Amino acid sequence: MGKKKFKIGVVGAGYVGLVTSSCLAELGHNVICYDKDKEKIRELNKGKSPIYEPGLEELIKNNLGRKLNFTDRAEDIYPESEVIFICVGTPSSQDGKPDMSYVETCAIELAKFITDYKLVVEKSTVPIRTAEWIERTIKLYNPKANFDVASNPEFLREGSGIHDFFQPDRIVIGVNSEKAKEILLQIYNDDDFKCPKLITDVKTAEAIKHASNSFLALKISYINMVADFCEKAGIDVDLVAEGMGLDKRIGRSFLKAGLGWGGSCFPKDVKAFVKMAEDLQVDFSILKEAYRVNERRIEVFIKKVKDALWVIKGKRIAVWGLSFKPNTDDIRESPALKIIPLLLNDGAFLSLYDPKAMENAKKIFPPSDKVHYANSLEESVIGAHALAIITDWDEFKNADLNRIKDLMLTHIIIDGRNIFDPKKVREMGFLYYPMGKP
Ligand SMILES: NC(=O)c1ccc[n+]([C@@H]2O[C@H](COP(=O)([O-])OP(=O)(O)OC[C@H]3O[C@@H](n4cnc5c(N)ncnc54)[C@H](O)[C@@H]3O)[C@@H](O)[C@H]2O)c1
Repeated sequence: MGKKKFKIGVVGAGYVGLVTSSCLAELGHNVICYDKDKEKIRELNKGKSPIYEPGLEELIKNNLGRKLNFTDRAEDIYPESEVIFICVGTPSSQDGKPDMSYVETCAIELAKFITDYKLVVEKSTVPIRTAEWIERTIKLYNPKANFDVASNPEFLREGSGIHDFFQPDRIVIGVNSEKAKEILLQIYNDDDFKCPKLITDVKTAEAIKHASNSFLALKISYINMVADFCEKAGIDVDLVAEGMGLDKRIGRSFLKAGLGWGGSCFPKDVKAFVKMAEDLQVDFSILKEAYRVNERRIEVFIKKVKDALWVIKGKRIAVWGLSFKPNTDDIRESPALKIIPLLLNDGAFLSLYDPKAMENAKKIFPPSDKVHYANSLEESVIGAHALAIITDWDEFKNADLNRIKDLMLTHIIIDGRNIFDPKKVREMGFLYYPMGKP
């Protein structure tokens, strides 16, 4: 298969759009990335990434002004691009179904610029039959348009997005025409992408993304139920998970007990899959329960804080971790967003620290007499009655606990991510409250 380079348009300069556009540019395609957010585009045109994603800013700087350009104008992207990747948000709406208005806007804006053949590729996570809706919308606004709509769901994980783009486990290509298949197989050619490629019809590809994400969420909820069981039974859930994970049929990944899943994908995608099933008269009860189990993780954690501190009112609590997982500044649906208000309601004074997510968190919890943002791990624990760990950043795992202990007023750790060895920290003199352990 030849390595033709395409003129590619990427719509949306978020986590997915920026990784997609900078990686495609790195592979030699001519990429223009479009976002309606003028401020984001201004920053990007200066070579600054509006999000933290390891390696992203370097890739943007490498290619900016040559293979990679950014614009906030529809007329700069749509007429020129042969292939258009839609990477806009599909957030949950009130009823749990995804809000498809951003995707619809792309289709409407794009329609009037189609003069020659274009391939429109859904990368956003969308309900089944979205491609049919995109097709219908484009035809409504431009009945003569010559185009295909394909589905190429994105499986990247924030925090390792660049790696996941270049070394994915698989690439799913949902197409309804030979031409669309040929183009996508040229972009995802075997030289650049050695992984298996699964070619399906469009609807199947749309479903694969939902079935995958919901399964991963289910797996985490499952181990969290096992964690509750282990804690009551006096067993260590991490050892149980290790024993389970060594079985190749089960695998070790996504068996980390703790505060559960968050982020911009799992909560909304699980809800969307349940709703999609409901529309087809299928009761996806197992996913509903996975969702409930996940929500209960917050209660389990808060109960631990209360068990540890007795009275929360007036206590100083250092909180480590605001992002929904390590190596990202993304706080969407982070457990921290639920835990912080509960602790504040109970009258705590909080000293928050996160390596990358503090600026985002300040927009939700502005600094006040009750909320302090610390510049370092050490500063966060000065005079603290307890330390609450919400995200498992490496920086926390490597913390000098002797120094931390010296700075704290009372030596209590409530660890929502099981980052420390209970025996060691207890020997150091901490009262240690992990998840799912005796
Ligand atoms: N974040 C992830 O880890 C991840 C992984 C896989 C799939 N996805 C899916 O990919 C999609 C995008 O996710 P994200 O996290 O990158 O979103 P995001 O919110 O970070 O970015 C979306 C961007 O699209 C822009 N936008 C919206 N409508 C537009 C329009 N009509 N024209 C131009 N720009 C527009 C917004 O301004 C925003 O910058 C979602 O469907 C998500 O579920 C996300």
